[in-house]
Parts: sequence; C-alpha cells; structure tokens
Amino acid sequence: MFSSSNLGIILAGGTGSRLYPLSNYINKHLLPIYDKPMLDYSISTMILIGIRNILILSDSKTIISLKKRYGNGSSFGIKINYTVQKKPNGIPEIFKIESKQISKYNKICLILGDNFFYGSNMSKYFEDKFNSYEGAHIFTYNVENTWDYGIIETKSNRKPFKLIEKPKKTKSKKAITGIYFFDNSAIKKIKDIKFSKRGELEIIDLLNLYLKENKLMYSELPRGFVWYDAGSPIRLLDVSEYVRMIEKRQGLKIMCLEEICYRKNLINKNKFLQLIHEIPNSEYKNYLQNLINENI
Ligand code: DAU
Repeated sequence: MFSSSNLGIILAGGTGSRLYPLSNYINKHLLPIYDKPMLDYSISTMILIGIRNILILSDSKTIISLKKRYGNGSSFGIKINYTVQKKPNGIPEIFKIESKQISKYNKICLILGDNFFYGSNMSKYFEDKFNSYEGAHIFTYNVENTWDYGIIETKSNRKPFKLIEKPKKTKSKKAITGIYFFDNSAIKKIKDIKFSKRGELEIIDLLNLYLKENKLMYSELPRGFVWYDAGSPIRLLDVSEYVRMIEKRQGLKIMCLEEICYRKNLINKNKFLQLIHEIPNSEYKNYLQNLINENI
C-alpha cells in the first residue's frame, strides 16, 4: 500500500573492507550479484514491500554513479533521494545525518544495501509486518556462521533477550538480517549512543534502546526464504550463483527492477517501452522485450 508517511532507507556506504581488493576502486554496492548491480536488489525489495519513497546513503563519488542508474527514480515510477555519508561512521548514523527529513515519517524501513532477500510470498510477508509494527521490528535467519552477524539470544517467551554483535561464541543461531523497521523515535535515541571501540555508531546499540523500552519485536524469516549478506567474496559468489541457477531454471529474472515497476503498475506500457528502448542490445533488453511480447 502506498503511503506518504513511509520512508525506505538503503545504506550503500561503508568501507567494503571484506571485499578488498574488489572494493578498492569501486563501492561494493555497484558490484554485480550475477546479472545486476547489488543495489537493484534492495531497491526492488523496497518496492515489493510497498515503499515508493527511498533515500539512499553513500559516499559522494558513488552517488554520482548511482544517479546514472536510478536518477531521481521517476523513470521507475518512484522517488529516490540521496544523502552523503562523509565517513563510514556506522549504520545508524543516517538518523543523525538526515534527522530533519526522517522526522516527517512515521514508519521507516532500513535495508543494508549488501543484503539479498527472496522467497515465495515475501512481498506480502514484509508488507503485512511493515503495516502493523510498532517501535522497532527486526528479522532473524538461522545461520551457522554466527560470528559474522548481530545475533539475538532469546528466552522461551520469544522476546529478544540479548543482542550481541558478532559474538565469538553463542548457542543461538538467530542472525539479525539487514532489514529493520523503525519508528521515528530512532532520531531521538541515536543522540544517546556513543561511538563504539571500533569507532562506529552501532546498530545493536540503537536496537538495545528499543529493547530497554520493551519496544523491540522480532520475527524469524520462514525457512523457505533466502537471505544472504553479499559482503564477502564467498557470499557474493554464493548469492550470484543462487540467482544464476534460479533464473536459468525458470527463465525469469530475480529482482528485475524494470519488470517489478511495470508489474506493480508504477509505470505504464509506454514508459516501460521507453525504458527498454534506452537499454543497449543485451540479454537483459531481450528479457524485458519478451515480457511485452508475452503480454504480461
Ligand atoms: O548483514 C547483516 C549484518 O549487518 C547484521 O547482522 C549486523 O548486526 C550488522 O552490524 C551488519 O554487519 P556487517 O558487518 O555486515 O556490517 P557492514 O559494516 O558490512 O555494513 C552493512 C551495510 O551497511 C553495508 O551495505 C554497508 C552499509 N554501511 C555500513 C557502515 C558501517 C554504510 O552505509 N555506512 C556505514 O557507516
């Protein structure tokens, strides 16, 4: 459902140090997950959740490149704005940088630009949660490599009990994924957070403030969903391979931005044809053209 009180924020800054030297000359969010730039996936996810107003945070050089692909969003029937993060000061810094803008919105969906979400009925799943949450809501996914993520430890009552960033040891397998729903009290809360030992404002510290007020809820993503964080070479390869495999099997593209905007009626047939016209001859163009021929 479109609502002007909702804002989507995508984070595309950071150092990308785990992807060195790949990320030395190019921001990791411009790297491909198989056949599309990484950021196409999070923008598509936002649209599928029902969010039409998106703010992308990155460094100033990357924003120039991002504008070439996404512009102000109008060719996709959405609104995209950009904001500069001067230094990778941490995930929740956005609530400081854009406090005035964000305070206009009641519901905020924050997605980490290196995260990939996919699954049957996923749009409806997230859309329903987004329309009904209060305070903050996070989503967990079972993983083996718990040391790479923020982790939730729980007691039997299903309420989060403890949040730990990249624990060396934990019995829990519940990784906190990179999709977060916040109310705008995050703007006030961030003022109470200090830089951590590693020199960042930590997302876990912000979540802990919600937890303290009993306003943090979590949901376990269903087993049929797929979640990846493409922030390391092996995970980037894994998720690319996953997308390649499914696309080849079905002949359908995963998170194809142009297709999603057309199917969601954000652009009409003429605008869709115009988008296709601007794409150089490629397999991607053929795919979109076939959608028209097949009368989707
Ligand atoms: O992927 C899920 C994990 O993401 C969570 O489980 C962790 O709790 C959370 O801290 C985060 O961990 P990472 O180690 O993956 O964070 P990373 O530094 O890689 O940044 C995640 C995304 O946010 C990435 O797309 C870059 C962006 N980012 C990060 C920082 C620190 C920014 O845009 N600006 C920043 O200052």
